[in-house]
Amino acid sequence: MPALRALLTGLFLLSLMPASRPANSEASGVSSHRLGSFDIEAHRGGRALRPENTLQSFANALSMGVDTLELDMGVTRDGVVVVSHERGLNPDLARAPDGKYIPAEIPFIKLTLAQVKQYDVGQIRPGSAYAARFPEQVAIPGTRIPTLAEVFDLVRRSGDRHVRLNIETKIDPTHPEESLDPQHFVAAVLDLLRREHFSDRVMIQSFDWRTLQLVQKQAPEIPTVYLTEQSGSDSNVHTDAASVWTAGFEPRDHGGSVPRAIKAAGGKIWSPDYADVDARSIAEAHQLGLPVIVWTVNQPEDMARLIDMGVDGIISDRPDLLRAEAARKGLPLPRPAPVSP
Ligand code: G3P
Ligand code: CA
Repeated sequence: MPALRALLTGLFLLSLMPASRPANSEASGVSSHRLGSFDIEAHRGGRALRPENTLQSFANALSMGVDTLELDMGVTRDGVVVVSHERGLNPDLARAPDGKYIPAEIPFIKLTLAQVKQYDVGQIRPGSAYAARFPEQVAIPGTRIPTLAEVFDLVRRSGDRHVRLNIETKIDPTHPEESLDPQHFVAAVLDLLRREHFSDRVMIQSFDWRTLQLVQKQAPEIPTVYLTEQSGSDSNVHTDAASVWTAGFEPRDHGGSVPRAIKAAGGKIWSPDYADVDARSIAEAHQLGLPVIVWTVNQPEDMARLIDMGVDGIISDRPDLLRAEAARKGLPLPRPAPVSP
């Protein structure tokens, strides 16, 4: 990573932080993030190794040493922020008390937290295509979906004063009936962050830029991370057409440039699918003052190539391999913080 860019990135990230230590810093136990250093992020806690988005995966990541825990959020019928990639119970993960995997997704907005806690998410459905993708994941039967507050407790118990959380609002504008609306979703998350004194340890990310606009207005101290997917059926930004995901900030109004659209939206970080970036787009983002954190990179050769290309961080299902690759590149490594789930 070129020293000048690392310095500029560090200054940029520093500029995101409050000028003086916020009153809640003591309570959350944070000192400072390793500002300006390369960001090693454990995707869903490192789902290739432990059941995704669980206290087990987050404890595993903290114990090996990461800069950031990446996770996804939903909100239950009784208003509790829970950690899950899907907007409801996932049939490939959730087993009912009778031991059987559920036949179809059940949205969290139809379930109370007590009901969510009845399901076991400690093992991917054996024989499924999803299980075939992660053959090394250690099954831990009995694992429950955690609340975000429980993840905060785990981080406190780990004693890691540097690790941050990159927390994603899972809302799909094309399926508004499956989750809270952006206003109520953001309100639930910000309320929890303030109650738990964790606002200074998170970045909020989303493919749904409407939620990021709300965060910027209501909690400008929290960095917003603009997720982009530019190809395939899951794409949320287009260079030549409008999208329901982008809150009106369209690349076509900014010379076809995705980072320019994010800059216009007031975003602090660009987080693209790693297959969508090249040295030119990364350089353009840096010229705009946007750090680039790519997802989801699991092969060491891709990690090495992207580090050489100048990305500021990588989100990976294999934080162990990412640590090894970062070490090979001479990048500083976050300290392990051993903790039990
Ligand atoms: O943080 C980026 C990445 O998590 C986005 O993809 O689908 O795993 O949430 P997804
Ligand atoms: Ca995510």
